[in-house]
Amino acid sequence: MEHEIAIESSLREKRRFKPDPAFARKANVPGQAAYNRMAKAAEKNPERFWAQQAREHVSWFVPWKKVLDWKLPFAKWFVGAKTNVSFNCLDRHLEGENAWRKNKAAIIWEGEPGDTRVLTYGDLHREVCKFANVLKSQNVKKGDRIVLYMPLIPELAIAMLACTRIGAVHSIIFGGFSADSIRDRIKDAQAKLVVTADGGWRRGRIIQLKKLVDEALEDLPSVERVIVYRRTDHGVPMREGRDLWWDALMEGASTDCKPAKLDSEHPLFILYTSGSTGRPKGILHTTGGYLTQATVTARYIFDLKDEDTYWCTADIGWITGHSYVVYGILANGATTLLYEGAPNHPDEERFWQIIDRYKVTILYTAPTAIRTFMKWGDHHPKKYSLRSLRLLGTVGEPINPEAWMWYRRIIGRNRCPIVDTWWQTETGGIMITPIPGGVATPPGSATRPFPGISAAVVDEQGEEVPTNEGGYLVITKPWPGMLRGIYGDPKRYRKEYWSRFPGVYFAGDGARRDKDGNFWVMGRIDDVMNVAGHRLSTMEVESALVSHKMVAEAAVVGRPDDIKGTAVVCFVTLEEDEQAVPGLDKELKDHVAKEIGPIGRPDEVRFTDALPKTRSGKIMRRLLRDIAAGRETLGDTTTLEDYSVLAALREDED
Ligand code: PRX
Repeated sequence: MEHEIAIESSLREKRRFKPDPAFARKANVPGQAAYNRMAKAAEKNPERFWAQQAREHVSWFVPWKKVLDWKLPFAKWFVGAKTNVSFNCLDRHLEGENAWRKNKAAIIWEGEPGDTRVLTYGDLHREVCKFANVLKSQNVKKGDRIVLYMPLIPELAIAMLACTRIGAVHSIIFGGFSADSIRDRIKDAQAKLVVTADGGWRRGRIIQLKKLVDEALEDLPSVERVIVYRRTDHGVPMREGRDLWWDALMEGASTDCKPAKLDSEHPLFILYTSGSTGRPKGILHTTGGYLTQATVTARYIFDLKDEDTYWCTADIGWITGHSYVVYGILANGATTLLYEGAPNHPDEERFWQIIDRYKVTILYTAPTAIRTFMKWGDHHPKKYSLRSLRLLGTVGEPINPEAWMWYRRIIGRNRCPIVDTWWQTETGGIMITPIPGGVATPPGSATRPFPGISAAVVDEQGEEVPTNEGGYLVITKPWPGMLRGIYGDPKRYRKEYWSRFPGVYFAGDGARRDKDGNFWVMGRIDDVMNVAGHRLSTMEVESALVSHKMVAEAAVVGRPDDIKGTAVVCFVTLEEDEQAVPGLDKELKDHVAKEIGPIGRPDEVRFTDALPKTRSGKIMRRLLRDIAAGRETLGDTTTLEDYSVLAALREDED
């Protein structure tokens, strides 16, 4: 299969890093024996394991009657129980034996221009209660959908927690998406209120958040209110009767707001992600199960302690930010650090400065970022002490062993364990990962399923493949943080995740398992590309391209890229009377960036007279992938509709 090359290279990886006994002694899972016991018990009875964890680490107003109700593919966890996410993240740290946390930092924030803020658990509780009351005053009710389109500032976390406090359902849109993308998501979620900011800072420039919201709402009268936080203060127009300033609303708001007692299956949030079609899908997560998995995984995988300063560099607008910047971290009463801006502003040392300044103990980042730091040069991190660090994590893409080793040596100074965590927007929480101190780590492998999670690698027929053979990664049992569906589209939910292999969850990734039981995830095997850790579907980019008046047809493929993991290459045929004039490739890239947002910007546009197709009219993507990567074309091309197309594309290459 296509992942032969990746499998080859990871097969050669023989290094293993054993858990450090000094780390293990103090860890939340204290060593290999403790880990093995936990994993074994969980394997024997996963429901019992999750129930125990839920009882121990989550607070419930009313206990459940049943741990799991599973009607494939629809799951209900902790059936009949009542809880509240904001209560778990805030109130319970202010009372009883944890009351001392009232004045502990919940959020340490640094803005890109260098401004800083610290919010204690007491502060955060007050702000969340106030904003929850603001939402109520704007007629927001339990179950209403609220769109958040904000920079990485504490107010984003405040708005999220305020929604959860009253049972409103948030849908966060990452600040790099365009007006069109915002409009589609607002429409799909039928949101009635948007929270945004005038702007945010990125590489010294203002991102015009409010302006994009205005554009998105032009033909969307269903949105009744827009609440605007003043961040950049650069003077944005406010529409009478619709737009209100955050600070004005907060001024008179009461700090008293009881958390709603919500059903365990009450919707918590919708988060849009790319699938294998052109239309993003709204992944729906609910309350009790998600909270349990986020809390418990954060506790054991990041070994969270009260004295930690934990920094996950992801934007809150992605699932990583939901689960491991906000919910999973605050539910443990830990300190989460937020940084608003770019890693190279004002220079390439910003991250290392932040780590030394706040004495960050745990760093969770993406392989793309690590590879970028490698390119910028060792001399940058080497100028800094980084002594406070004790644990490193990665997420979002396969990490190549070379980057893993660099991370360990240059950032972790050979002292910090690394947890490579595999999971997805759909899984809600981490699924495959080492437990630090408990599992030996080979560079480049996410190792084992988290206790209570069952994963396998299967072939086309759904049979488990032998050791070291590549196949499809599947999850074989329901898990607490699993998506409960695609918002408003149960058919698509069934089709995308549960139909390829009956009875199991199909993740869309290729993987192999080695003789020690370690999983090596190879990357997407569907039409989803993982570009710099962001998900993008080839169809999304294609439909953006064909919406340009000069484009007749487009095929988009990924090409391996040293830094971004995957680069986006577009093959384009133009309308009959159009020509590939100089500058048109840039125009098309700009066009896609405008349609989807800066994260969708293609790396390369190639013009061709026709696209290679099979007799039945299917575009031969594998061939295009090979051409894009400059590889020898290996496949059987006898079904090519027109050999001259292939020849023309190849000539173009020379
Ligand atoms: O291909 C896998 C890759 O990221 C995809 C999920 O993307 P998203 O929903 O945006 O969530 C990213 C953050 C959780 C997966 O299908 N992926 C994520 N983590 C890893 C990974 N691939 C290899 N190793 C990982 N640790």
